[in-house]
Amino acid sequence: MENRIRMFDSPQILAMNLAEEFKKEVSQSKDNFYLAISGGSTPKIFFKELAKTPFKEEVAWLHLQIFWCDERCVPPDDSDSNYGMTKENLLDHIRISAENIHRIKGEAHPEKEAVYYSKEIDKLLPKAKNNFPQFDWVLLGIGADGHTASLFPNSELLYSCSNIAGVAEHPVTGQKRISLTEKIINNSKRISFIVTGKDKANILSEIIKGDHKNYPAARIKPAEGTLDWWLDKEAAFYL
Ligand code: 6PG
Repeated sequence: MENRIRMFDSPQILAMNLAEEFKKEVSQSKDNFYLAISGGSTPKIFFKELAKTPFKEEVAWLHLQIFWCDERCVPPDDSDSNYGMTKENLLDHIRISAENIHRIKGEAHPEKEAVYYSKEIDKLLPKAKNNFPQFDWVLLGIGADGHTASLFPNSELLYSCSNIAGVAEHPVTGQKRISLTEKIINNSKRISFIVTGKDKANILSEIIKGDHKNYPAARIKPAEGTLDWWLDKEAAFYL
């Protein structure tokens, strides 16, 4: 497994470089490009960059099939919604058709929506050699507790590796979430962690240096694809 670390002086410079990489990756695809994105605050600066010239004009948006790594079980107009954040900072500013946007319906019954979302992914995505759906690129964040997507430490979903998506519960707030599982994430062609800020320096050091305590983010190891890290210097402080 390839493990590449890219470090930048600031989140803004990271976002500009990642936007260039994103444009290159998507433009290289001859057909649909299957992307899964995360929510939270880190991706916002990246989405804002993509929503600006030249990326809003130059990225091959029509190739893109956008999915989410996870979603909070709230309506799309709720301030907590990952889809809502993406819509505000990116989707409302680019030319992409509604059919290419595969949001998780946070307002729906969680267990039913997890099944529906799993079926959508299974139906729409190409299969890898293991006959399991394969994303072209999954963009992940890391929580200070080592979670990624909504795969929280010691959570039941973390170990239910047979499905594509399932229902999780935030360990502190109890908020229900729908998340991709480790198995589908690890089946991707490319996985990138985007991590910024000094509050992530400790967890990042533990995970990358290998003395992790089985954190969910440390379990992300693409079976055949590549894994890379996009870090600002604050998050990379202990590396
Ligand atoms: C979510 C994300 C989650 C996020 C991390 C980091 O729905 O919140 O999928 O896994 O990536 O919690 O969040 P920040 O970027 O806000 O630090």
